[in-house]
Amino acid sequence: MSVLSVSVLMVGLLLPVVLHAATYYNSHKSDDQCNHCCRGLPGPQGIPGLPGHHGTRGQDGQMGGKGEKGELGSKGFTGMRGETGPVGPKGSRGRKGSKGDCGPTGLPGVKGDLGPQGPVGPAGEQGMRGPKGEQPARIAFTVTRSEPLGPVPQKTPITFDKVHLNLGDSFDVYSSHFICKVNGTYLFTIHMLSMENQTAYGWLMLNNDHQMAFHGDAQARHGTGSNTVILRLSREDHVWIQLNENSAILNHFSSFSGHILFED
Ligand SMILES: *[C@@H]1O[C@H](CO)[C@@H](O)[C@H](O)[C@H]1NC(C)=O
Ligand SMILES: *[C@@H]1O[C@H](CO)[C@@H](O)[C@H](O)[C@H]1NC(C)=O
Repeated sequence: MSVLSVSVLMVGLLLPVVLHAATYYNSHKSDDQCNHCCRGLPGPQGIPGLPGHHGTRGQDGQMGGKGEKGELGSKGFTGMRGETGPVGPKGSRGRKGSKGDCGPTGLPGVKGDLGPQGPVGPAGEQGMRGPKGEQPARIAFTVTRSEPLGPVPQKTPITFDKVHLNLGDSFDVYSSHFICKVNGTYLFTIHMLSMENQTAYGWLMLNNDHQMAFHGDAQARHGTGSNTVILRLSREDHVWIQLNENSAILNHFSSFSGHILFED
């Protein structure tokens, strides 16, 4: 600090004191003093006193008015996650979603019903000729008589002396019986023409059993007795014709025939 500055400061500090002192003096000037002596020159100015003690604290002032609203503070930290709230009410139906991907292939379905019958296919080619089939034994015969017979007094076997056919030799010319040599099924026919005004009544016999009757009535003048029978025969079976008593037949017009149908 320069001297000039100190001087200025001193003047600043002292000037009020000087003025004060002068004022004080003038106000306390009395007549005694004035009478006592002549008024001398004012003394030198005293040294300023020390600063006074710090005063006591004053009473609190009145509460000031509400301040202006401060600026918005900075954003605080994110708080902790709260507890899960109660389930809210069901929302409204959302929009239809887009079509999903195709699922995996399912299991095979159950077998369906039988379909309708298909159309008839084209005819196939003719196959090769098959092997020769088994043919039944060649057994067939037809026999007649060369003489009329009857009227007979009792049941009489009819004999046949004219053999027209005897394949397989199953018709025995000596007994006039068909004697089975091959087990199988056979067909027999009988055709008997009666003498005039006589009856032609008889039976086709299988062994000792009456199998099938024939009857030509006398009232027909020439009655015809006929029949056909199919029999299952075994070896040694006999088939023959029996004429009843009082019956009579003509020759030529009466015949006995038979043949095998199939072997067993
Ligand atoms: C057969 O009967 C008829 C009528 O009864 C008769 O006319 C005819 O002469 C008789 N024939 C024989 C051969 O007896
Ligand atoms: C023929 O038939 C008889 C009786 O059914 C049987 O015993 C016999 O064995 C048969 N014969 C043949 C060759 O089949």
